[in-house]
Amino acid sequence: MKKITVIGTGYVGLVSGTCFAESGNQVICCDNDERKINNLLQGGVPIYEPGLKELIEKNVKKGTLCFTSNIKQAIREAEVIYIAVGTPMSPSGEADLSFVEQVAKTIGENVNSYKVIVTKSTVPVGTGRLIESIIKQHLREDYPFDIVSNPEFLREGAAIKETLNMERAVIGTESDMAYQIISELHQPFTSTILRVSLETAEIIKYAANAFLATKISFINDIANICERVGADVTKVSEGIGLDSRIGNKFLQAGIGFGGSCFPKDTAALVHISQKCGYDFKLIKAVMETNEGQRVKIVEKLKDALGTLNGKTISVLGLAFKPDTNDIRSSPALDIIPYLSVNGATVRAFDPIAVEETKKQLGYQCLYFKDIYETLENADACLILTDWLQVKHLDLNKVKELMRQPLIVDGRNIFDLETMQEFGFTYLSIGRQPINKGTIISKAI
Ligand code: UDX
Repeated sequence: MKKITVIGTGYVGLVSGTCFAESGNQVICCDNDERKINNLLQGGVPIYEPGLKELIEKNVKKGTLCFTSNIKQAIREAEVIYIAVGTPMSPSGEADLSFVEQVAKTIGENVNSYKVIVTKSTVPVGTGRLIESIIKQHLREDYPFDIVSNPEFLREGAAIKETLNMERAVIGTESDMAYQIISELHQPFTSTILRVSLETAEIIKYAANAFLATKISFINDIANICERVGADVTKVSEGIGLDSRIGNKFLQAGIGFGGSCFPKDTAALVHISQKCGYDFKLIKAVMETNEGQRVKIVEKLKDALGTLNGKTISVLGLAFKPDTNDIRSSPALDIIPYLSVNGATVRAFDPIAVEETKKQLGYQCLYFKDIYETLENADACLILTDWLQVKHLDLNKVKELMRQPLIVDGRNIFDLETMQEFGFTYLSIGRQPINKGTIISKAI
């Protein structure tokens, strides 16, 4: 049992803190945002994540998890301090480290015994050393401490499951004692622990996200070629994914990646490479392809409708992916304003991300939690998130409700045969278009 303080109750901090409590540690989650802490103290959970609320309630009741805005006190009580504050993207694309630097200063001022200080936030290479020097500058007495980089690989929507059963833990530190402590903390979660240097751990996080983003943009480029030659990208994914060297994951073509990590971390990696004098062309191309996917889907919609002006468009999905209410860098945030500015009436559906979207887009569209109501009298339906509710749509009912049966699918949810049978005009990604039930073959 270790006494752990997690600073920052965002996605990563809250999930990690709760899982450390669940595995038998004494955890304090703290944040300087008092509103956030008061909400947590009253049983509120600021993010939607399957299983999180239940696990928080269980551990708060057991007394193994508590919340406070008194960061100084929480630092003094801890043996291990996790830094999980935000590292937002600055306008230049670089990671903004001001929150991390502020926390390092507060830690330095309040260290009162040996502490292991761990970065969980995704931080550029060299941040571990920076934290070390800030803490040293602010130490009141010469207390020993160690710095560790322990990057987070969890996916939203599966965060609890993937933390309690993680594929691997990466621990970057030069200190044997700190390694011992942090690896023991991870033993309940995984048997695969990789010990590396601080800098290597910091790069591993960026490399992992950039590689996954590259897989997505790669298959989207292939999808764009498939459309031109009359091939089917879903079969191409299957065909290449059967090769165990390639693997079948993250090869789903579509509207591209969004979320809090891939867009931010690819941009930050471009900066990291520029700073050390390397031109990382591949990642720039990955970002460019990703942005292009959003433009292409709107072009398809426009071509099919002739004009957006005066049309009613049902947008299905606001969250950047299913099982989360997170809308950060979600395609909907770019696409809805564009449709609206060009004269379309947008009716948007999402089972849980409506409130979040309203904060950002206000009344640029009408919001619905009932998927069928969204589709009433629509000239077109645009699928942006592969929610289960979309996958399970009653297509007969959809046809009856819409003014015309036109679906533009950014997630390749439906198979072409089904859409043919139902007589839809169906435009998806990397597959042949269907016009009123007839496949338009573009084979060359
Ligand atoms: C990602 C990483 O997977 C995780 O390891 C890291 O810690 C944080 O970033 P997350 O952003 O939660 O996790 O979502 P993920 O499931 O990876 O999806 C990211 C985006 O890629 C989504 O917009 C998703 O729709 C898209 N995606 C994913 C595809 O377009 N095609 C795919 O095949 C897979």
